[in-house]
Amino acid sequence: MPNPKPSSHSLFSTLFLLITFSISTLVSSKSTIEPCSNADSCNAMVGYTLYTDLKVSEVAALFGIDPISLLTANNIDISYPDVENHILPSQLFVKVPITCPCVDGIRKSVSTHYKARPSDTLSSIADSIYGGLVSADQLREANSVSDPSVLDVGQNLVVPLPCTCFNNSDNGLPAIYLSYVVQPVDTLAGIAARYHTTITDLMNVNAMGSTAISPGDILAVPLSACTSNFPRYASDYGLIVPNGSYAITASHCVQCSCSAGSRNLYCTPASLAVSCSSMQCRGSNLMLGNLTMQQSSAGCNVTSCNYDGYVNGTINTMLSVSLQPRCPGAPQLPTVIPPPTTATRQSIYAPAPAPSPMESGGLHWPKSQGGIMLPPLGSFPASGPAASTAAGSVTSGCFVIKPLAASQLTVALYGLVCLCLTAGFRLL
Ligand SMILES: *[C@@H]1O[C@H](CO)[C@@H](O)[C@H](O)[C@H]1NC(C)=O
Ligand SMILES: *[C@@H]1O[C@H](CO)[C@@H](O)[C@H](O)[C@H]1NC(C)=O
Ligand SMILES: *[C@@H]1O[C@H](CO)[C@@H](O)[C@H](O)[C@H]1NC(C)=O
Ligand SMILES: *[C@@H]1O[C@H](CO)[C@@H](O)[C@H](O)[C@H]1NC(C)=O
Ligand SMILES: *[C@@H]1O[C@H](CO)[C@@H](O)[C@H](O)[C@H]1NC(C)=O
Repeated sequence: MPNPKPSSHSLFSTLFLLITFSISTLVSSKSTIEPCSNADSCNAMVGYTLYTDLKVSEVAALFGIDPISLLTANNIDISYPDVENHILPSQLFVKVPITCPCVDGIRKSVSTHYKARPSDTLSSIADSIYGGLVSADQLREANSVSDPSVLDVGQNLVVPLPCTCFNNSDNGLPAIYLSYVVQPVDTLAGIAARYHTTITDLMNVNAMGSTAISPGDILAVPLSACTSNFPRYASDYGLIVPNGSYAITASHCVQCSCSAGSRNLYCTPASLAVSCSSMQCRGSNLMLGNLTMQQSSAGCNVTSCNYDGYVNGTINTMLSVSLQPRCPGAPQLPTVIPPPTTATRQSIYAPAPAPSPMESGGLHWPKSQGGIMLPPLGSFPASGPAASTAAGSVTSGCFVIKPLAASQLTVALYGLVCLCLTAGFRLL
């Protein structure tokens, strides 16, 4: 989407800086708050849209996670040459695995930190760099920033991220929750279809009274997952892997994912060439992931060699023999993909709803050779699909004519805020 910037923009920019914070309390974005009382943390994910081209390792660093876990969460082949330095394109959507502890009585992640760079503002960090997963207000509160217009370069900011656990289950089945920032093109039906869930389920999970969603809302989306049954003393006890992802465990020796078409966790030796202890099941010639079937008059005699957790540097295996009415199909690992090079947004988890010009557009910050160059001072990260907090949308609604297929509500909201801005302007 081309984004004309009026030359009077800088005047408005200064004004905007002054009153951003009073506005954002007026229109706060919806998000799922999960009350909690215990100290347990769980695995969760956030959906992140890249605001510029970034290396795999840079995206991982932004969220303080291991690049390998970013890759496996997105079903990307980790044996691809130099994959950590692969450049992911601007506007690509990725799922980022995070841990979700209980903080101040609610589920939120506070383990992500960001070092302020020249020309950062709280809004640019919130709306652009973190793609609307956090608001400028939340950043200000979490870091007790008294004067938001002055950020020290190098200042270490905690970035509180939304996350939900809901006991890692959805309708009694294992699930991992993705915190998803609603984009201008989204509909609830589209989101439900993309993540293999239903509108009703999304409404229940998010305690919604209607199907209306607005850009910048943060929805908890349940992703069906497969759980392990490892003994409690295993270091990977409780391993849970969402459908469409895989996990690498046991010192990079074992790889697990939902077997295609089932809800069972299926583990095999990992493709990475590292030295690993034996993965043969004791008392058999079967290797981890191998399975034999024997049809008899009584049914199908299935023998399989399964992974049973990583204990004291040893890969535990377990031979299981079962008599099933019918022989199952051979378990299959979903095929991993090479790292993406183009971003039609959501491309990794297609089928997405019909692509729209809005998705491929967006504002691209200029890139430097060596790494990230941040948004120039005085410009607003408010015009791309990544600009999704209420305050962000407000800017573009007032200063840029945006061909947004806005709902009546959004229009009304924009009107209200524009009024406030005008009022604020007169006051000054
Ligand atoms: C959480 O889920 C487990 C099974 O996955 C169940 O046994 C337990 O009762 C659930 N706890 C709550 C508080 O819902
Ligand atoms: C798992 O994902 C595949 C596509 O990646 C999909 O066809 C299947 O329906 C999903 N299964 C569940 C239980 O969501
Ligand atoms: C057993 O598993 C190993 C390792 O995954 C594999 O290389 C081999 O082909 C499998 N053998 C059979 C008979 O499936
Ligand atoms: C199933 O196969 C295993 C190993 O091949 C064998 O030990 C067991 O007796 C068989 N069971 C039945 C019911 O055939
Ligand atoms: C792991 O090793 C420690 C000492 O090295 C031992 O005390 C412990 O019992 C072992 N755990 C298991 C489950 O074997």
